[in-house]
Amino acid sequence: MSAVRGEFSSRFGFIMAAAGSAVGLGNIWGFPTQTASNGGAAFLVAYLVLAFCLAYPALMAELTIGRHGQANAVTSLRKISNDGWQKHFAFVVGFGGIICAGLILSFYAIVAGWMISATLEPVATLAGSQTASTWLSEQSLSRDLLFTAGFIILTVAIISKGVENGIEKWSKRLMPALLSILFALIIYVMMQDGAMTGLKAYLVPDFSSILDPELLVSALGQAFFSLSLGTSVMIIYGSYISKKENLVSLGAYVTLIDVFIAFVAGLLIIPAMYVAQAQGVEIFSATGELLSEDTLVFQVLPALFDGMGTIGLFVGFAFFALMSIAALTSSISMLEAPVSYAVERFSLNRLSATWLIGAIIAVVSFTIILNFGTLFGFVIALTTKFGQPLLGLMCCLFVGWIWYRNSLLTEIQQGCPEVANGIFWKIWPWYIKFICPIAIGLVFVSSLLG
Ligand code: PHE
Repeated sequence: MSAVRGEFSSRFGFIMAAAGSAVGLGNIWGFPTQTASNGGAAFLVAYLVLAFCLAYPALMAELTIGRHGQANAVTSLRKISNDGWQKHFAFVVGFGGIICAGLILSFYAIVAGWMISATLEPVATLAGSQTASTWLSEQSLSRDLLFTAGFIILTVAIISKGVENGIEKWSKRLMPALLSILFALIIYVMMQDGAMTGLKAYLVPDFSSILDPELLVSALGQAFFSLSLGTSVMIIYGSYISKKENLVSLGAYVTLIDVFIAFVAGLLIIPAMYVAQAQGVEIFSATGELLSEDTLVFQVLPALFDGMGTIGLFVGFAFFALMSIAALTSSISMLEAPVSYAVERFSLNRLSATWLIGAIIAVVSFTIILNFGTLFGFVIALTTKFGQPLLGLMCCLFVGWIWYRNSLLTEIQQGCPEVANGIFWKIWPWYIKFICPIAIGLVFVSSLLG
């Protein structure tokens, strides 16, 4: 099977693809708005600590499982299982992750559809079509169905091309584009009135809330979502890494890029909110609380772009194009999880498997759109509050308790022969065995109680 399996052709290709999966709406939308509503810099500090101390070790567990297995998530987990019940457990965790990835994609595609329509709205205005511009900016069934379907088709088109010509090629194009737009927008926003007040709110800490359980729960959830953990996505991306590569440093690069982009996105969004405020747009509710996340992105920022006159059309276009690109590099990784399983387990050809699974996900997305009030929030909570932490925790249990230590070491030593003497191998196995499961479990329980 390994002869026909895809593989990332270069280190850079893998980093762009895995960072592309990690960097998404979670970084550019979720992180800044959560930071703004959870005490600014205090949330940032908690996030940094949790991302490096809990999410990075968990990411390493998933990448290592995949690289060892050189197969989809279920098969990779089965390869490290030693007896019958462990193999059942492997199926539950691997298949659970695949379902979780598919469900995340089904709501993510709806939000990404909003981003694409918001990208096109300034184009319609520039072209002088008021009707089109109103249709694009107002929520409606026809708009949501059309753009969600469009986004899923885009994702399917990339995934159907395979690992090197699809995922890797497009991640290498889209990620640098994303970075350039992000930095250009930051420079622009920093030059506007009010930006410095926003910068202060973001970077000057109010540490009184740092141990608040609610803040910790949100920060860990954010870190897990952002690193795409508990969805089998990183297992499958790990399985496409060559045995010559150093996993320890690859995982560290991906974590660093992900955290860095979240931090940088905060430098854009939070000052932009205060620039909007300086222009008379309300960003706090009557009770002094920050407006909700979707209101911020879909009302506050467009109001800010409107206030800028014609240049605002270009800035608005760039901003929502940035969001759409970030969403696309993440959604391709979500679709790869079920597709790789279908191709390897049922020997389907890649093209049909991709279209078939894309169609199933579209049906789920449409069902959510048609029952928006009941299903949208429910699917988000089910996958991000329950699915991801629990499945991420189980991957840690697999590596910590089921995988034989020597075999684990042999896997990591490929591409990193000196690892046994370094700090990583002194700390990580204990970490993954005890600290990660306990800490993730505690945070999970307190999120249920909260
Ligand atoms: N990490 C992505 C983001 O931050 C979301 C994602 C979750 C991607 C799970 C893949 C799997 O937006």
